[in-house]
Amino acid sequence: MKRRYAVIGSPVRHSRSPWLHGYFARLTQRAIVYAAYEPRGGFADCAAAFFAAGGCGLNITLPYKAEALAFADSASAFARQVGAANVLARAADGGIKAYNTDGGGLLRDLQGLTDGVSGKTILLLGAGGAARAAAYALAAAAPAELRLYNRTPQRAQALAEGCGGVAVAQPEAGADIIIHATSAGHGDYAPYPAALFSTAQLAYDLSYGAAAQPFIRQAKEAGAQKTADGSGMLAWQAALSFALWEGVMPTVGGVLAAAERIAAG
Ligand code: ATR
Repeated sequence: MKRRYAVIGSPVRHSRSPWLHGYFARLTQRAIVYAAYEPRGGFADCAAAFFAAGGCGLNITLPYKAEALAFADSASAFARQVGAANVLARAADGGIKAYNTDGGGLLRDLQGLTDGVSGKTILLLGAGGAARAAAYALAAAAPAELRLYNRTPQRAQALAEGCGGVAVAQPEAGADIIIHATSAGHGDYAPYPAALFSTAQLAYDLSYGAAAQPFIRQAKEAGAQKTADGSGMLAWQAALSFALWEGVMPTVGGVLAAAERIAAG
């Protein structure tokens, strides 16, 4: 029988996870099916019903990542730090264990786009849910400095204290890598000072598609050497999820090339 996996989110209609996992399953010749659920009741009821019916693992997307962590019987140290989980898997003892592969997904993608994070000065813009996994992962990857800027300074301060970064009152110029992790690309993006981008080897937006474009457009115009949206991070977090469930790490290069072909029409 095929092992069953799914993503739970709301909205979930546009999730790329079923496509990504279908791709990884074909690549690794694993017999899985992967569905997408938008819970009609609460998240916990939906997840419990899925596992009770023999489901093997879940991805969790907005707005349920904190609930997923609370639902699990145990959690990886990183998921606990971040306070959010995007993966649930069955542990050896039969319980449900929570993981967060968003942070690792970002680091893997950055590794491919630049020569890594280690020794670099990084500016992270935003301090909400999406920024948290990024901040803890980046802080663990030995940057020269991790600067956190947020519209509401107290949130940047709190995140900096948690992850070991430095909260800055203004988005200062001089960073090697700038990572945009606010939700402003969905509506009211206000440009950052152009000087920020002139030193940047890479300007990266955690979101993908239209939401990433305002930041990417500004970064390009202001002279960032390289820009990227979060589609690579998405592919890597999925691959890391797949590896946790199926015990085999799929090759991500092909999926990135396919995504580029699709994006290019
Ligand atoms: P997400 O899970 O997408 O990160 P969130 O937890 O609501 O969502 O966090 C949204 C982030 O985007 C926050 O850092 C928020 O800044 P505030 O803490 O000041 O609210 C940031 N954000 C949203 N709209 C913004 C805007 N127009 N300009 C700058 N930052 C914005």
